Amino acid sequence: MKTEFYNLIKDIISTDEYQSMKEIKHHRYTNTYMHSIRVAYLCYLHYLKHPDKYDLNTLLRGALLHDYYLYDWHHKGNPHVRHCFVHPKRSFKNATRDYGELNKYERDMILHHMWPVTPIPPHTKYGWLIVKMDKKAAMHDYAIKMRYKKRKRKMRKLEKQNKKVIE
Ligand SMILES: [Fe+2]
Ligand SMILES: [Fe+2]
Repeated sequence: MKTEFYNLIKDIISTDEYQSMKEIKHHRYTNTYMHSIRVAYLCYLHYLKHPDKYDLNTLLRGALLHDYYLYDWHHKGNPHVRHCFVHPKRSFKNATRDYGELNKYERDMILHHMWPVTPIPPHTKYGWLIVKMDKKAAMHDYAIKMRYKKRKRKMRKLEKQNKKVIE
């Protein structure tokens, strides 16, 4: 299934611009490249359960390009406080420039994925789906580090215990 998924997304993710997203920090512990692919994969799994309800190509394009803003807001000079509000429009602009015209579902997914942080809710089921999958992926992104920290704490505790036994 993962090979099939990769074959579906490879044309979009293989450009230099898309690859540059690996350098853009996202949700503290990951990058926009990994995050966007995760969102697309969650959408793909949802599609497999409801293949008659969505157009897969539209779903994957919208998901892969929803955070295609291509700047690191942690760096000086880039939108910082306004990032939450600015980046959907920037992603849409970049996506249109690099991947051609977007249909109304792809547009809805990109422009309204930040709802309810941004005031305008999605207008289509594609838009509502990405709102859900984006939050789900974000929770996973943060959980990566929490799991890592927990493991590290456990290791430290074990090391201390071992030291006591040796002494
Ligand atoms: Fe976003
Ligand atoms: Fe996102």
